[in-house]
Amino acid sequence: MDYNDPHNVQCNALTAFLRTTAVHGMLNAAPCRMLELGCGSGPFGRRLLAEYPQLHVTGVEVLPEPVAALRLIVTRDGLERRYKPLLADIADAEVLESSGYDLVLAPNVLHHIPRLAHTPVPDNLCRWLRPGGFLVVYDPNGANPVQQLSNQVTRVATLYIKALHPYKWPGETMYSPAYYRRVFTRHGFSYVYGFTHDPFLPVRDAGLFLLAVRNVLNNAVALVTRGDWRGAGQTLLFRKD
Ligand SMILES: C[S@@+](CC[C@H](N)C(=O)[O-])C[C@H]1O[C@@H](n2cnc3c(N)ncnc32)[C@H](O)[C@@H]1O
Repeated sequence: MDYNDPHNVQCNALTAFLRTTAVHGMLNAAPCRMLELGCGSGPFGRRLLAEYPQLHVTGVEVLPEPVAALRLIVTRDGLERRYKPLLADIADAEVLESSGYDLVLAPNVLHHIPRLAHTPVPDNLCRWLRPGGFLVVYDPNGANPVQQLSNQVTRVATLYIKALHPYKWPGETMYSPAYYRRVFTRHGFSYVYGFTHDPFLPVRDAGLFLLAVRNVLNNAVALVTRGDWRGAGQTLLFRKD
């Protein structure tokens, strides 16, 4: 999968999900202001800009390289007035305006924050959203025992093998849907809806032998379980009280 492509399967899935929710109406209302957290090259934000002409996005990213790449893409695509890339840490409350946003999208980023509940991040997201605004979490599913185990193993491996760093962020973790529900409902949000997805992962096209083994195990779990254990990913929707 090309993670930079706004039409990759993840961007397609999230866009399709949003169409079924109250967020869709909000995205069509003028003007709608969205934060894309840990935006990287901004694939989700750029996709939503193409879907919703009234939308404006601020992308927050802590690494300078993706921000530089995103700035080039924004200029290339003529999006300067609608997509603002910002080099900043989402743990820093001061980088964004309080109640300045209608929607916060957190795609594949919160699992990069170790001990999330003990950081300023949940309070920051609440602070940046206006009352009634929405938070969408799209993340790996830490309730899936195979994904959790695989994450713990690679997490230790990254401490010793630098070559893994492009694929695994040191300190990267994985949270369950229950963890996110607990954290965000304690920080000014109501839980609206959520689900786990992607129960079956490719085996033949896994790339590495160890990944193929992990995916076989993952698929076996998907065959025999229901509920939060099943699925490699999760999507959760919260509303700020
Ligand atoms: C797995 S990548 C996801 C990129 C993009 N959202 C996507 O789904 O393709 C996680 C991104 O979050 C960024 N990130 C991690 N911690 C962050 C923080 N504290 N503040 C802002 N960005 C952060 C990383 O630099 C990385 O670009």
